[in-house]
Amino acid sequence: MEITRRSFVSTALTTAVVAQPALAALGGVLLPRMASGASSGVNAKLRIGLIGCGGRGTGAAVQALRADPDLVLVAMGDVFKDRLDASLAGITEEMGERAAATVQVPPEKRFVGFDSYQKVIDAGVDVVLICGYPGFRPMQLEAAIKAGKHVFAEKPLAVDGPGIRSVLASTKLAKEKNLALLVGFCWRHNPGMKAAFEQVLGGTIGEVANVHTTYLTSTLSKRPRQPGWSDMEFQMRNWWHHVWISGDHIVEQAVHSIDRLAWAMGDLTPTKVICLGGRAARTGVESGDSYDHFAATYEYADGRRAQHTTRQIDHCPSDNSDYIYGTRGRCTINGWAPLYECRDYKGAVLWKGTGSAEEASKMYQFEHDALFASIRAGKPMNDGERSANSCLMAIMARTAAFTGQTVTWEQAMNSTEALVPATLSMNAPAPVVQVAVPGRKPGAAAPAAGSPEMPFAGRRG
Ligand SMILES: NC(=O)c1ccc[n+]([C@@H]2O[C@H](COP(=O)([O-])OP(=O)(O)OC[C@H]3O[C@@H](n4cnc5c(N)ncnc54)[C@H](O)[C@@H]3O)[C@@H](O)[C@H]2O)c1
Repeated sequence: MEITRRSFVSTALTTAVVAQPALAALGGVLLPRMASGASSGVNAKLRIGLIGCGGRGTGAAVQALRADPDLVLVAMGDVFKDRLDASLAGITEEMGERAAATVQVPPEKRFVGFDSYQKVIDAGVDVVLICGYPGFRPMQLEAAIKAGKHVFAEKPLAVDGPGIRSVLASTKLAKEKNLALLVGFCWRHNPGMKAAFEQVLGGTIGEVANVHTTYLTSTLSKRPRQPGWSDMEFQMRNWWHHVWISGDHIVEQAVHSIDRLAWAMGDLTPTKVICLGGRAARTGVESGDSYDHFAATYEYADGRRAQHTTRQIDHCPSDNSDYIYGTRGRCTINGWAPLYECRDYKGAVLWKGTGSAEEASKMYQFEHDALFASIRAGKPMNDGERSANSCLMAIMARTAAFTGQTVTWEQAMNSTEALVPATLSMNAPAPVVQVAVPGRKPGAAAPAAGSPEMPFAGRRG
């Protein structure tokens, strides 16, 4: 099966239809409406604002509106007007007969520009869906939580160490203010996947000794430069190929699989990582400075190791699986196939799960059902810390690959390398695009063969 993130989005949008699922998720028991803990107080109708109106933002808005009978989308913001307009049309179409009641975004509440996120937050909303590019997530999350809003934030939560520290501070503040913070690690909400991890963590394959997760897929599309685009707009339109905005594909896309690696390891954080990576097949200026493959090995305090490999190269086999090895047997997990299976090392089946691709496509709906049910119940969910840790695992692997060095958890967490420019404007100078070369400082010329920096160049054996 060819797995691309874009197909996740369209499948999720077209198949996830669940009538009043928040009630269904609560077993049909109508809970009393309680104070949301946000700006709304006791409020039957919750008003939603969407920041980042692309594929995922459009899908998330529809799923949010279907999660509860008393929700209305009232404000939207994007850096690009064309994206906002297309998203509003898409949401309206998807909501069908319920559109008039649930999609009420007048022209004066459609905000465009880098400051649109703050305008959405200030537009009288109770819940904010933060679905733009990853580099901007920490700043938008901080603003939303400070303003007392419940948040759904897509993964990844940040692209660098300073961003993760900001997210952790916002997570803490959300807990103090009794605000929800749900991160888009949707596989954690897929029933088939949850059942499989219950088996893994419940001891069916014994103690987990090693984990290897994969995200091998095709490359992402490119947007050729159009007349009138500034350098910044060009990079923003090709965001997933530019490390400062996306974090590179190990952070932006494969973080799903790194999150499942963390899940299998009991959500322990690793002590260090080494990571090989490079760029073998990407061409053209649209490809920015992103690599197209990474292979990370994490090490844990108890000496266990776990691997993650990811590739975005066309015409190569796809695989998006989790291979978990225990002292008694192994578990193979592939949510899209779907395959949930534990066997002993002689091949005998220890446990086999069920699930379907259709169920997997509904996980986006399930996560929103859970979010709004938790807000209604006055017990807002908050998975910010665990999610930030998974994102930092991806970030530290990228840093290890780019530098060629081992990176410890402390180094990653305390890193001062901030990728996002302080001044954001379509006319501001765009960050310099330079593909990292492991072992070489950014901007340094290649050392000559035989020089002290490359003493073994040219020798074999
Ligand atoms: N959980 C999942 O399975 C899943 C699936 C797809 C995408 N995602 C995540 O969702 C996010 C968006 O991905 P996408 O595929 O929708 O991308 P996209 O390019 O289709 O949409 C992103 C939108 O955000 C807007 N935007 C960017 N920066 C902004 C800012 N500072 N203020 C306001 N708007 C801004 C862009 O203009 C664009 O319209 C990414 O982080 C991606 O990793 C998650």
